[in-house]
Amino acid sequence: MLMLIDHANVEAIEKTLDYLPIDGVTTNPTILYREGKEPLDLLRRIRDVLPVGSQIHVQIVSQRADDMVAEAKALRSALSGNLFIKLPVTREGFAAIPRIVKEGMQVTATGIHSSMQGFMAAKAGARYVAPYVNRMDNYGIDGVRVATEIHKTLRSYDMHADVLAASFKNSEQVLELVRQGVGAITAAPDVLAALIKNPATDAAIADQNRDFGFLIGEKRTWLDLVNER
Ligand code: G3P
Repeated sequence: MLMLIDHANVEAIEKTLDYLPIDGVTTNPTILYREGKEPLDLLRRIRDVLPVGSQIHVQIVSQRADDMVAEAKALRSALSGNLFIKLPVTREGFAAIPRIVKEGMQVTATGIHSSMQGFMAAKAGARYVAPYVNRMDNYGIDGVRVATEIHKTLRSYDMHADVLAASFKNSEQVLELVRQGVGAITAAPDVLAALIKNPATDAAIADQNRDFGFLIGEKRTWLDLVNER
């Protein structure tokens, strides 16, 4: 399962890369807008802080299929790396998916709010299909259930596509999709941080270290013991 960062703040991305096993970054127009920087330069900076080969997903903003294809080609020429072209699952986006795949680019179909959209985007040639879990929840649709259903459908037809679940507000939504074995998730740094944070862990380790401090002296470590030999 791949884990990606759904964010465009370079500092936040670097901090997350420091301690979590991350496979890339996803962006969308709103995420880039929030940073208030020239977006192409920002994407290049993000690519440069990521480990070589990491995925970087960038969303096309044109409305018509012809323009989407031209925009994707331009982006490809300007941004080297493991680029995924994000296309919305609008009528025009669907028309553009096979054309952009034919140009040798990888496509992530985005904005998915139903199982059928996910299946059809995979059939059209998208490598990833991105259901918006929390947004569906907010519409009264069970986002985790839809993402799981898309995953099971893709696997039952043995399609060359994976769910890249997006739009999370809490770690429980992510956990359920980890249980289901979806191919990838993308989440903001705070949601990713919550995946591993547990106060009980902090308390247990603090107790153990305090006890060892009684034995060898507070704040001292194995390093001190070894160096003193
Ligand atoms: O990147 C697409 C998706 O993650 C949107 O998330 O937080 O705007 O619902 P959000």
